Amino acid sequence: MAKRTIVSLPGDGIGRAVLEETIRVLDAAGFEADYIEGDIGWEFWKEEGNPLPQRTIDLLEKHKIGLFGAITSKPKDAAFDELSDSLKEKGLVYSSPIVGLRQHFGLDICMRPCHSYKGNPLNFIRRGKGDDIEEPEVDVVIFRQNTEGLYGGVEWSNPGQQVYDALMTHPKFVSNFGETPKEEVSVSTRIFTKKATSRILKAAFEHAKNFGYKSVTVCEKPNVIRETSGMMYKMAQQMQKADYPDIELWNTNIDAQMMWLTKNPEDYGVIVAGNMFGDIVSDGFAGLIGGLGFACSAQFNPDSGVGVFEPTHGSAPKYADYETSIVNPIAMVESACMMLDFIDEKEKATKIRKAVAEVISEGKVRTYDMMKMRGKADVVENGAASTTEMADAIIAKL
Ligand code: IPM
Ligand code: MN
Repeated sequence: MAKRTIVSLPGDGIGRAVLEETIRVLDAAGFEADYIEGDIGWEFWKEEGNPLPQRTIDLLEKHKIGLFGAITSKPKDAAFDELSDSLKEKGLVYSSPIVGLRQHFGLDICMRPCHSYKGNPLNFIRRGKGDDIEEPEVDVVIFRQNTEGLYGGVEWSNPGQQVYDALMTHPKFVSNFGETPKEEVSVSTRIFTKKATSRILKAAFEHAKNFGYKSVTVCEKPNVIRETSGMMYKMAQQMQKADYPDIELWNTNIDAQMMWLTKNPEDYGVIVAGNMFGDIVSDGFAGLIGGLGFACSAQFNPDSGVGVFEPTHGSAPKYADYETSIVNPIAMVESACMMLDFIDEKEKATKIRKAVAEVISEGKVRTYDMMKMRGKADVVENGAASTTEMADAIIAKL
């Protein structure tokens, strides 16, 4: 078989460190590929006024598979301040390149597994009966709709007259906001389409069916957000009845789900949500299994076969300049395993996951987060494994 080309997208901050170590792990597992680096991130915003240059889009268009490190995102005004002086007059507005990639390639299916590793000192524990301490096993996969909803980008401050007039046709707008001067109104829309909603629901049900999960939970807020959340839940009911009668359909509200997170996380299997609530609930569950050092994700378009695989942690700029990188590469390694699953290299993915599980349960090599240290340059002197040492430990198990 021809060697694959993977577009490596280190992005900002610690992205490069975790990505480079992950590629070493992939090599050691026998995955043969060429890696071409794509430019993306803050540096390209500052220098070119575009954090997602067209040449990077072209690369992904051609090779289809991206391994993504991390990205720095800042609000509009802060982003403008850092733009190089010669670009300041051009009226450029910063927008997140990862959101841009999702939208450009229609990477509408986002999958975020959160499962606890045995022996991970960061696993959530809770008080049981009497003095019992319980460590519930979390095995949840979140399916987040990745292109629509509050991330659709359809928003205004001081909307134009036509938009304002349209809003004024809605009785609720008139009664709740009709008295407010137009200049004082900001609007961010939350648009759901049947097509995308059906695709994310189907992906969730299929996953539950193929991997033996007994339930799919729609985590939205249909009691208040009647049109969008309501549509998603109704479509889930129809789909479950027609095609997945053996899988239970549960329905939670995002707020209550966050409250129940620590009460009974072991009860949940597959969770499906719109874009924003999927973002929230996936961070919530990630917190139970070790936090961002363990949170991986896949985002893909099943039709075109384009997929971008990334840890969901940020770029942690404060750690990026350390001479020895201290951050935990496991989330990135796990994201690469999701990439291997996606391109039908499942055996290699399984091998790597097993190696990671062994390193964690053995407990000899632990990054600073796993040792509950504060992230500082001296953690390695004090016994924490560096990013490289953690990758070495995984490689040794391979
Ligand atoms: C994520 C991140 C992104 C998001 C940010 C970086 C734009 O939080 O992937 O979960 O909000 O989707
Ligand atoms: Mn997030």
